[in-house]
Amino acid sequence: MRTIAVTNQKGGSGKTTTAVNLAAALAETRRKVLLIDLDPQASASSWLGVADGGKGLFELLVGNGNLVDLVYETAFAGVSLVPGSNWMVGVEKAMAGEVGAETVLRKAIQSLPRNRWDIILLDCPPSLGLMVVSALVAAQEVVVPVEAHVMALSGLANLLQTVERVKERLNPGLAISTILPCRVDVRKNLSKEVVERLRSRFGRLVPPTVIRENVRLAEAPSFEQPITAYSPESSGAVDYRAAAGELLKRGKERARAR
Ligand SMILES: Nc1ncnc2c1ncn2[C@@H]1O[C@H](COP(=O)(O)OP(=O)(O)O)[C@@H](O)[C@H]1O
Ligand SMILES: [Mg+2]
Repeated sequence: MRTIAVTNQKGGSGKTTTAVNLAAALAETRRKVLLIDLDPQASASSWLGVADGGKGLFELLVGNGNLVDLVYETAFAGVSLVPGSNWMVGVEKAMAGEVGAETVLRKAIQSLPRNRWDIILLDCPPSLGLMVVSALVAAQEVVVPVEAHVMALSGLANLLQTVERVKERLNPGLAISTILPCRVDVRKNLSKEVVERLRSRFGRLVPPTVIRENVRLAEAPSFEQPITAYSPESSGAVDYRAAAGELLKRGKERARAR
C-alpha cells in the first residue's frame, strides 16, 4: 500500500484536480484507490458525489472511531473516498496540545485492512499546518502540483523545507516523488518558462508529461465525475492517465531500489 500526499500550501495549484483525476486514472489500471479528503472545503468529496461528509474524519482525528468505517464507495469503480467536511476547520484547534497529534492520521491509515487498497491519496488543504504535516507523516511519497499559469515557484522552498523537516524528525522514509506542472498552456511563454525552470531545478522529479490547461477539467466537478468519466478523450484525461502511468513506474523503481 503506497500512501501519497498531494500537497502545496498555495490554493488553486491543482491539488484537488490532481487527487481526484489521478485516483480515477489509477483505478482505470485496476488499482484500488482510497482518496482521503483532508481539506475543510471538501471539494474532492463533492466532486466524487459526497456533498456532506459529516463529522467522521474530525471525530477520528480527535480520538474516536475507525478510519475504515468512514469509507464511501464512490460511483466510480476502484475509487473509494473518506470524505472531508467543514468540521475539519476546527480540527487543528481541537488537536492542539495533543501529544503526537501529527501521528494520529498515520496510525489510522496503518489500521486499515491490508490489501484492500493499492494506493492511498491524501488531498491536502492549502496550508503547512497540522493536517499537512499529518499527511506528510502518514505518506511515503509527496506529489506537488504546481500551477504553471503564474510564477508559482516562490512558495516551493517553504514546502520543500517542511518535507525535509518531517523526513528528519518524524518520517525518514518520506520522499518527494513528483513535482507536477498543472494548467500548462503550451501556447504561452510564461507556462513554458515555468516548466523549464522546474525541470532545471528539480530534474527527474518533473515527469515527461505535464498537465495541460483543459476546460473539461474545470467543468468536471459540476458533473460529479472524474475526467476519465466526464470526458474520457479530453487532453485532461490523457494527461492524468500519463501521470498515473508515471506514478506506477516510479513506484516500481522505488520498490526495486529497496
Ligand atoms: N489542468 C487544468 N485545466 C484547467 N483548469 C484547471 C486545471 N487544473 C485545475 N484547474 C482549475 O483550477 C482551480 C484550482 O484547482 P484545484 O485543483 O481546486 O486546486 P487546489 O486544490 O490546489 O486548491 C479549479 O477551479 C480547477 O478547476
Ligand atoms: Mg483543493
